[in-house]
Amino acid sequence: MHQGHDNHFGFLSNLNLFICSLLEVLECYTISAESFIIPLFSTLLAAFWIMVPAYIPNPVAALCGGGTPIDFGKTYADGHRILGDGKTYRGLVSGVCAGIAVGALQIWLWGAFGWTFLPEQTAASVVILAFGALLGDMGKSFIKRRIGKNRGESWPIADQYDLVAGAFILMLVFDPAWLFTNITWQILVVILILTPILHRTVNIIGYHIRVKKEPW
Ligand code: CTP
Ligand code: MG
Repeated sequence: MHQGHDNHFGFLSNLNLFICSLLEVLECYTISAESFIIPLFSTLLAAFWIMVPAYIPNPVAALCGGGTPIDFGKTYADGHRILGDGKTYRGLVSGVCAGIAVGALQIWLWGAFGWTFLPEQTAASVVILAFGALLGDMGKSFIKRRIGKNRGESWPIADQYDLVAGAFILMLVFDPAWLFTNITWQILVVILILTPILHRTVNIIGYHIRVKKEPW
């Protein structure tokens, strides 16, 4: 009888141990979700939200571009084109307008639905991000022509980061307060990882639907 009671108690304590271990595992999971998965996801979302007005102009320029080149076909002192036929007024205007339009939608969504967990876009930030992205793209083309690379030729790293450099340099000049409140080092790291991935993906799609001549 005494023996039976002990066995019964042994089983219960084993069960107790099992449940405690299970709870501990679950607790670890919630801790890692709170301290790792959720912050990672919200940083990713914030980085993307910040960059939307800068990401839109390039594909829209590729889609709508053409016609008069920004450099009017002129060559520089080195005999190469100033910017080349890949930079046109139509591409610049359509791209910047599209970036601003989508940014305006973000400003509206943020206010109308109280999406305060996301970074706040302003009229200035949206214009600077959209225009800065294509300014960076033009700056890159200018240097690309100077080192003798033809229009459309691949120039790794510069081709992917020109929009980030252009947007952030312009932001540093015209709205440094916005830059320093929103671009934390975590956000910057995510932007530097996310940008080439999105750039490559969109360009491969653009290449296959024949909007872009090259897949880079
Ligand atoms: N585009 C445009 N106007 C701009 C930017 C881009 O018309 N301001 C269009 C052009 O048709 C261009 C296409 O978008 O060919 C893809 O842009 P991008 O890859 O930046 O230009 P490339 O043709 O590769 O020229 P570059 O070598 O100077 O980067
Ligand atoms: Mg190109």
